[in-house]
Amino acid sequence: MDQQGSYQIKTITSHVETEIKRLKAQVDLFWDKELKHYIEYGLRDGIRIVELGSGPGFITEKVLDKLPEAYITAVEIDPFLVEYAQKYLSKKNKNRYEVLEKSIMDTGLAENMFDFAIIRLVLEHLPDPVNAVREVYRILKPGGRAVFVDNDFNMHIMTHPHVPELSELYDAYCQSRFAEGGNPRIGRELPGILKEGGFSKVDFEVISAHSEIVGEEIFLKSEGMSIPAKLVCDGFLSSKVLANISVGWRNMFKSKKHAILRQLYMAVGEKLS
Ligand SMILES: C[S@@+](CC[C@H](N)C(=O)[O-])C[C@H]1O[C@@H](n2cnc3c(N)ncnc32)[C@H](O)[C@@H]1O
Repeated sequence: MDQQGSYQIKTITSHVETEIKRLKAQVDLFWDKELKHYIEYGLRDGIRIVELGSGPGFITEKVLDKLPEAYITAVEIDPFLVEYAQKYLSKKNKNRYEVLEKSIMDTGLAENMFDFAIIRLVLEHLPDPVNAVREVYRILKPGGRAVFVDNDFNMHIMTHPHVPELSELYDAYCQSRFAEGGNPRIGRELPGILKEGGFSKVDFEVISAHSEIVGEEIFLKSEGMSIPAKLVCDGFLSSKVLANISVGWRNMFKSKKHAILRQLYMAVGEKLS
Protein backbone atom coordinates (compact mmCIF):
# COMPACT_ATOMS: atom_id res chain seq x y z
CA MET A 1 0.00 0.00 0.00
CA ASP A 2 1.60 3.29 -1.00
CA GLN A 3 0.96 6.81 0.26
CA GLN A 4 -1.54 7.52 -2.53
CA GLY A 5 -3.87 4.84 -1.21
CA SER A 6 -7.12 4.51 -3.11
CA TYR A 7 -6.94 7.49 -5.47
CA GLN A 8 -4.66 7.24 -8.48
CA ILE A 9 -6.12 9.18 -11.37
CA LYS A 10 -4.66 6.86 -13.98
CA THR A 11 -6.26 3.74 -12.48
CA ILE A 12 -9.45 4.94 -10.75
CA THR A 13 -11.06 5.35 -14.20
CA SER A 14 -10.13 4.40 -17.73
CA HIS A 15 -10.44 8.02 -18.93
CA VAL A 16 -8.25 10.57 -17.19
CA GLU A 17 -9.75 13.59 -18.99
CA THR A 18 -13.28 12.47 -18.04
CA GLU A 19 -12.18 12.09 -14.42
CA ILE A 20 -10.65 15.59 -14.42
CA LYS A 21 -13.95 17.01 -15.72
CA ARG A 22 -15.79 15.07 -13.01
CA LEU A 23 -13.51 16.55 -10.33
CA LYS A 24 -14.24 20.04 -11.67
CA ALA A 25 -18.00 19.44 -11.59
CA GLN A 26 -17.65 18.13 -8.03
CA VAL A 27 -15.95 21.38 -7.01
CA ASP A 28 -18.68 23.45 -8.72
CA LEU A 29 -21.43 21.36 -7.13
CA PHE A 30 -20.49 22.30 -3.56
CA TRP A 31 -18.34 25.43 -3.89
CA ASP A 32 -20.85 28.12 -2.79
CA LYS A 33 -21.73 26.22 0.36
CA GLU A 34 -18.16 25.17 1.07
CA LEU A 35 -16.86 28.72 0.71
CA LYS A 36 -19.32 30.02 3.32
CA HIS A 37 -17.89 27.53 5.80
CA TYR A 38 -14.27 28.18 4.86
CA ILE A 39 -14.87 31.91 5.51
CA GLU A 40 -16.66 31.17 8.77
CA TYR A 41 -13.64 29.08 9.83
CA GLY A 42 -11.12 31.83 9.07
CA LEU A 43 -10.33 31.84 5.33
CA ARG A 44 -9.63 35.45 4.40
CA ASP A 45 -7.45 37.51 2.12
CA GLY A 46 -3.76 38.08 2.80
CA ILE A 47 -3.13 34.91 4.81
CA ARG A 48 -0.89 31.90 3.98
CA ILE A 49 -3.00 29.04 2.69
CA VAL A 50 -2.08 25.45 1.90
CA GLU A 51 -4.20 22.97 -0.02
CA LEU A 52 -3.08 19.36 0.28
CA GLY A 53 -4.07 16.71 -2.27
CA SER A 54 -4.87 19.58 -4.60
CA GLY A 55 -5.33 17.42 -7.73
CA PRO A 56 -5.90 19.42 -10.93
CA GLY A 57 -6.03 22.71 -8.95
CA PHE A 58 -9.74 23.55 -9.12
CA ILE A 59 -10.09 24.45 -5.42
CA THR A 60 -6.84 26.41 -5.52
CA GLU A 61 -8.25 28.31 -8.52
CA LYS A 62 -11.51 29.11 -6.69
CA VAL A 63 -9.65 30.40 -3.63
CA LEU A 64 -7.30 32.53 -5.80
CA ASP A 65 -10.34 33.98 -7.61
CA LYS A 66 -12.05 34.80 -4.34
CA LEU A 67 -9.05 36.24 -2.49
CA PRO A 68 -6.96 38.60 -4.67
CA GLU A 69 -4.16 38.97 -2.11
CA ALA A 70 -3.88 35.32 -1.04
CA TYR A 71 -0.83 33.11 -1.68
CA ILE A 72 -1.54 29.39 -1.88
CA THR A 73 0.79 26.44 -1.65
CA ALA A 74 -0.77 23.43 -3.38
CA VAL A 75 0.67 20.03 -2.40
CA GLU A 76 -0.01 17.03 -4.65
CA ILE A 77 1.66 13.62 -4.81
CA ASP A 78 0.84 12.67 -8.41
CA PRO A 79 3.35 14.16 -10.90
CA PHE A 80 0.75 14.07 -13.70
CA LEU A 81 -1.65 16.20 -11.63
CA VAL A 82 1.14 18.50 -10.46
CA GLU A 83 1.95 19.27 -14.10
CA TYR A 84 -1.74 19.58 -14.98
CA ALA A 85 -2.35 22.05 -12.11
CA GLN A 86 0.75 24.08 -12.99
CA LYS A 87 -0.40 24.46 -16.61
CA TYR A 88 -4.04 25.04 -15.69
CA LEU A 89 -3.31 27.71 -13.08
CA SER A 90 -0.70 29.45 -15.25
CA LYS A 91 -3.32 29.97 -17.98
CA LYS A 92 -5.16 32.07 -15.46
CA ASN A 93 -2.12 34.31 -15.16
CA LYS A 94 -1.95 34.24 -11.40
CA ASN A 95 1.42 34.23 -9.75
CA ARG A 96 0.13 33.78 -6.25
CA TYR A 97 0.57 30.02 -5.99
CA GLU A 98 3.09 27.22 -6.07
CA VAL A 99 2.37 23.55 -6.78
CA LEU A 100 4.69 21.15 -4.95
CA GLU A 101 5.07 17.45 -5.76
CA LYS A 102 4.96 16.10 -2.21
CA SER A 103 2.94 13.73 -0.05
CA ILE A 104 0.61 14.97 2.65
CA MET A 105 2.29 12.35 4.84
CA ASP A 106 5.63 14.17 4.69
CA THR A 107 5.38 17.56 2.99
CA GLY A 108 8.94 18.67 3.69
CA LEU A 109 7.46 22.09 4.54
CA ALA A 110 8.63 24.01 7.61
CA GLU A 111 6.49 23.84 10.72
CA ASN A 112 4.25 26.75 11.73
CA MET A 113 3.99 28.10 8.15
CA PHE A 114 0.30 28.37 7.29
CA ASP A 115 -2.78 30.13 8.65
CA PHE A 116 -5.32 27.94 6.88
CA ALA A 117 -5.33 24.47 5.30
CA ILE A 118 -7.86 22.80 3.01
CA ILE A 119 -7.76 19.03 2.54
CA ARG A 120 -10.64 17.97 0.30
CA LEU A 121 -11.54 14.40 -0.68
CA VAL A 122 -8.06 13.18 0.30
CA LEU A 123 -8.21 11.56 3.77
CA GLU A 124 -10.80 9.06 2.51
CA HIS A 125 -8.16 7.66 0.17
CA LEU A 126 -5.27 7.35 2.62
CA PRO A 127 -4.19 4.20 4.49
CA ASP A 128 -3.00 6.34 7.46
CA PRO A 129 -5.27 9.40 7.77
CA VAL A 130 -4.26 10.20 11.37
CA ASN A 131 -0.62 10.71 10.43
CA ALA A 132 -1.71 12.86 7.48
CA VAL A 133 -3.66 15.03 9.93
CA ARG A 134 -0.58 15.21 12.22
CA GLU A 135 1.50 16.50 9.29
CA VAL A 136 -1.12 19.18 8.49
CA TYR A 137 -1.12 20.16 12.19
CA ARG A 138 2.69 20.46 12.15
CA ILE A 139 2.81 22.90 9.22
CA LEU A 140 0.01 25.13 10.57
CA LYS A 141 0.85 28.22 12.61
CA PRO A 142 -0.40 28.24 16.22
CA GLY A 143 -3.96 29.55 15.97
CA GLY A 144 -4.19 28.24 12.38
CA ARG A 145 -7.11 26.15 11.22
CA ALA A 146 -7.50 23.17 8.91
CA VAL A 147 -10.67 22.04 7.14
CA PHE A 148 -10.99 18.42 6.02
CA VAL A 149 -13.79 17.51 3.58
CA ASP A 150 -14.69 13.92 2.72
CA ASN A 151 -17.45 11.58 1.61
CA ASP A 152 -19.29 8.92 3.52
CA PHE A 153 -20.51 6.44 0.97
CA ASN A 154 -23.27 5.04 3.17
CA MET A 155 -24.85 8.43 2.67
CA HIS A 156 -23.91 9.20 -0.88
CA ILE A 157 -26.41 10.19 -3.60
CA MET A 158 -30.04 9.94 -2.59
CA THR A 159 -32.81 10.30 -5.13
CA HIS A 160 -36.54 10.75 -5.37
CA PRO A 161 -37.95 8.39 -6.49
CA HIS A 162 -35.52 6.11 -4.68
CA VAL A 163 -33.18 4.08 -6.92
CA PRO A 164 -32.48 0.97 -4.79
CA GLU A 165 -29.83 -0.30 -7.24
CA LEU A 166 -27.55 2.63 -6.34
CA SER A 167 -26.66 0.93 -3.05
CA GLU A 168 -25.08 -1.92 -5.06
CA LEU A 169 -22.95 0.60 -6.95
CA TYR A 170 -21.77 2.28 -3.75
CA ASP A 171 -21.07 -1.07 -2.06
CA ALA A 172 -18.91 -2.05 -5.04
CA TYR A 173 -17.16 1.33 -4.93
CA CYS A 174 -16.47 0.90 -1.19
CA GLN A 175 -15.07 -2.61 -1.66
CA SER A 176 -12.75 -1.34 -4.35
CA ARG A 177 -11.48 1.62 -2.31
CA PHE A 178 -11.10 -0.44 0.90
CA ALA A 179 -9.05 -2.99 -1.07
CA GLU A 180 -6.62 -0.19 -1.96
CA GLY A 181 -6.29 1.09 1.60
CA GLY A 182 -8.85 3.90 1.57
CA ASN A 183 -11.91 4.44 3.72
CA PRO A 184 -14.88 5.73 1.69
CA ARG A 185 -17.01 5.88 4.87
CA ILE A 186 -14.57 8.16 6.71
CA GLY A 187 -17.01 11.12 6.83
CA ARG A 188 -18.52 10.06 10.16
CA GLU A 189 -15.04 9.51 11.68
CA LEU A 190 -13.59 12.91 10.84
CA PRO A 191 -14.01 14.65 14.23
CA GLY A 192 -12.30 11.76 16.08
CA ILE A 193 -9.48 11.61 13.53
CA LEU A 194 -8.83 15.35 13.87
CA LYS A 195 -8.65 15.08 17.65
CA GLU A 196 -6.29 12.09 17.41
CA GLY A 197 -4.17 14.12 15.00
CA GLY A 198 -3.71 16.87 17.61
CA PHE A 199 -6.44 19.39 16.76
CA SER A 200 -8.53 21.30 19.30
CA LYS A 201 -11.86 23.14 18.96
CA VAL A 202 -13.01 20.52 16.45
CA ASP A 203 -16.33 21.14 14.74
CA PHE A 204 -18.32 19.23 12.12
CA GLU A 205 -20.76 20.17 9.35
CA VAL A 206 -22.68 18.38 6.63
CA ILE A 207 -22.79 20.23 3.31
CA SER A 208 -25.60 19.35 0.93
CA ALA A 209 -26.35 19.90 -2.73
CA HIS A 210 -29.92 19.46 -3.99
CA SER A 211 -30.95 19.32 -7.65
CA GLU A 212 -33.85 21.73 -7.04
CA ILE A 213 -31.30 24.32 -5.93
CA VAL A 214 -28.24 23.73 -8.12
CA GLY A 215 -29.89 22.01 -11.11
CA GLU A 216 -29.49 18.40 -12.19
CA GLU A 217 -26.92 18.96 -14.95
CA ILE A 218 -24.13 19.48 -12.45
CA PHE A 219 -25.01 16.22 -10.67
CA LEU A 220 -24.76 14.33 -13.95
CA LYS A 221 -21.35 15.87 -14.63
CA SER A 222 -20.08 15.13 -11.12
CA GLU A 223 -21.08 11.46 -11.23
CA GLY A 224 -20.66 10.05 -14.74
CA MET A 225 -20.07 6.47 -15.84
CA SER A 226 -16.30 6.19 -15.94
CA ILE A 227 -15.79 5.01 -12.32
CA PRO A 228 -18.73 2.51 -12.50
CA ALA A 229 -17.35 1.18 -15.80
CA LYS A 230 -13.94 0.70 -14.15
CA LEU A 231 -15.60 -1.16 -11.24
CA VAL A 232 -16.99 -3.59 -13.83
CA CYS A 233 -13.54 -3.95 -15.48
CA ASP A 234 -11.94 -4.65 -12.09
CA GLY A 235 -14.56 -7.26 -11.14
CA PHE A 236 -16.22 -5.33 -8.27
CA LEU A 237 -19.53 -4.90 -10.12
CA SER A 238 -21.24 -7.08 -12.72
CA SER A 239 -22.24 -5.55 -16.02
CA LYS A 240 -25.77 -6.84 -15.40
CA VAL A 241 -26.03 -4.88 -12.14
CA LEU A 242 -24.59 -1.79 -13.86
CA ALA A 243 -27.23 -2.11 -16.59
CA ASN A 244 -29.96 -2.32 -13.90
CA ILE A 245 -28.54 0.76 -12.18
CA SER A 246 -28.68 2.67 -15.49
CA VAL A 247 -32.31 1.65 -16.01
CA GLY A 248 -33.24 2.65 -12.43
CA TRP A 249 -31.44 6.00 -12.84
CA ARG A 250 -33.19 6.72 -16.17
CA ASN A 251 -36.58 5.80 -14.69
CA MET A 252 -35.99 8.17 -11.79
CA PHE A 253 -35.54 11.01 -14.30
CA LYS A 254 -38.87 10.14 -15.92
CA SER A 255 -40.66 11.10 -12.72
CA LYS A 256 -41.89 14.70 -12.91
CA LYS A 257 -40.88 15.39 -9.31
CA HIS A 258 -37.49 13.70 -9.38
CA ALA A 259 -34.76 15.04 -7.12
CA ILE A 260 -31.10 14.28 -6.38
CA LEU A 261 -29.32 15.00 -3.12
CA ARG A 262 -25.67 14.56 -2.14
CA GLN A 263 -23.70 15.39 0.98
CA LEU A 264 -20.11 16.06 1.93
CA TYR A 265 -18.75 15.96 5.47
CA MET A 266 -16.56 18.74 6.75
CA ALA A 267 -14.51 18.85 9.96
CA VAL A 268 -12.47 21.82 11.15
CA GLY A 269 -9.84 21.97 13.85
CA GLU A 270 -7.51 24.56 15.35
CA LYS A 271 -3.86 24.32 16.36
CA LEU A 272 -3.82 25.86 19.81
CA SER A 273 -1.67 28.95 20.29
C1 LIG B 1 -10.34 12.82 -5.14
S1 LIG B 1 -8.94 13.75 -5.56
C2 LIG B 1 -9.41 15.35 -4.88
C3 LIG B 1 -8.67 16.48 -5.54
C4 LIG B 1 -9.04 17.88 -4.99
N1 LIG B 1 -8.71 17.97 -3.59
C5 LIG B 1 -10.51 18.16 -5.21
O1 LIG B 1 -11.25 18.27 -4.23
O2 LIG B 1 -10.91 18.30 -6.37
C6 LIG B 1 -7.72 13.20 -4.36
C7 LIG B 1 -6.37 13.84 -4.58
O3 LIG B 1 -5.46 13.50 -3.52
C8 LIG B 1 -4.20 13.19 -4.09
N2 LIG B 1 -3.43 12.37 -3.13
C9 LIG B 1 -3.61 11.06 -2.82
N3 LIG B 1 -2.71 10.68 -1.90
C10 LIG B 1 -1.95 11.77 -1.62
C11 LIG B 1 -0.85 12.01 -0.74
N4 LIG B 1 -0.33 11.04 0.04
N5 LIG B 1 -0.33 13.25 -0.70
C12 LIG B 1 -0.81 14.26 -1.48
N6 LIG B 1 -1.84 14.07 -2.34
C13 LIG B 1 -2.41 12.85 -2.40
C14 LIG B 1 -4.56 12.48 -5.38
O4 LIG B 1 -3.48 12.35 -6.28
C15 LIG B 1 -5.69 13.37 -5.87
O5 LIG B 1 -5.21 14.47 -6.57
